[in-house]
Amino acid sequence: MNQRGKFRMARIIDGKIIANDILTEIKQAVDRCTRPPHVVFIRVAEDPASVIYVNRKQKVAHEVGIRSTALAFPADVTSTELLKAIDKLNRDPEVDGILVQAPLPTEAMQRAAFLALDPQKDVDGFHPYNVGLLAQEDGRGFVPCTPAGILELIRSTGQDFTGRHAVILGRSSIVGKPMGMLLMQRKPWGNATVTFCHSKTRNIVHYTRGADLLVVAIGQPHFVTADMVKPGATVIDVGINRVPDPQRSKGYRVVGDVDFEHVQEVVDFITPVPGGVGPMTIAMLMKNTLLAYQRHAGC
Ligand code: GUN
Repeated sequence: MNQRGKFRMARIIDGKIIANDILTEIKQAVDRCTRPPHVVFIRVAEDPASVIYVNRKQKVAHEVGIRSTALAFPADVTSTELLKAIDKLNRDPEVDGILVQAPLPTEAMQRAAFLALDPQKDVDGFHPYNVGLLAQEDGRGFVPCTPAGILELIRSTGQDFTGRHAVILGRSSIVGKPMGMLLMQRKPWGNATVTFCHSKTRNIVHYTRGADLLVVAIGQPHFVTADMVKPGATVIDVGINRVPDPQRSKGYRVVGDVDFEHVQEVVDFITPVPGGVGPMTIAMLMKNTLLAYQRHAGC
């Protein structure tokens, strides 16, 4: 029995199915292009997660007919060398999109790299120009892929969050902040009342329990428990955490920031990990790459 005294389970929002539908449409559009759209991935140092993410993005790019190139720089690359490489890609007419996989060895290098990107090729939407366009609700920029993908997941539920309370756990530039900006927009799918919570927020439970929509991007396995959520809420789990699991051949399993097993008994909609937000991030990257190509080359 759950907290409402009934047996019930949330509807699971299947990111794999929604992402595959989007990728099918992208592939059809790519087939009509006069040349394949081309995205270049830049990776610095051997961050194991970044290696996996870039490999995954390249695999999906290949599946939809998008050309991709991965450039890997050593950990001791200088900012000057990195910016020179970015400048070359900015000027290359055969390159439509550039993605600098975060994190870079230093915050300063990461800032410099994002700033050096041609905003028209910034398919991740991290250049301050694109961040500014999003803040101004100007649709001509690129929207960061994870929040854009989450918005599609939320829209797939058919719910209207106008005037309702959306709570975002996490204030990163990659997920939290752009997510809040999207949910606040004066659009049919926006108009939410947004609260940001972060590591310094006092009494987080007070906010999470009042959330009609809860987006969790905090990086702590099973941080959100069943007693922290409002019955009937929608919960989006952005977390990707490895926890030890001797029963698995790899010795670990991947879990989100939400205690899925118990939270699903309380809420109406929830995303799984894996298979929720992750596939959508990649699908949105392909969408942004196609968009960048269409803006450059036309097709
Ligand atoms: N690191 C973690 N997530 C992302 C992402 O969506 N884009 C980039 N460039 N780096 C990341």
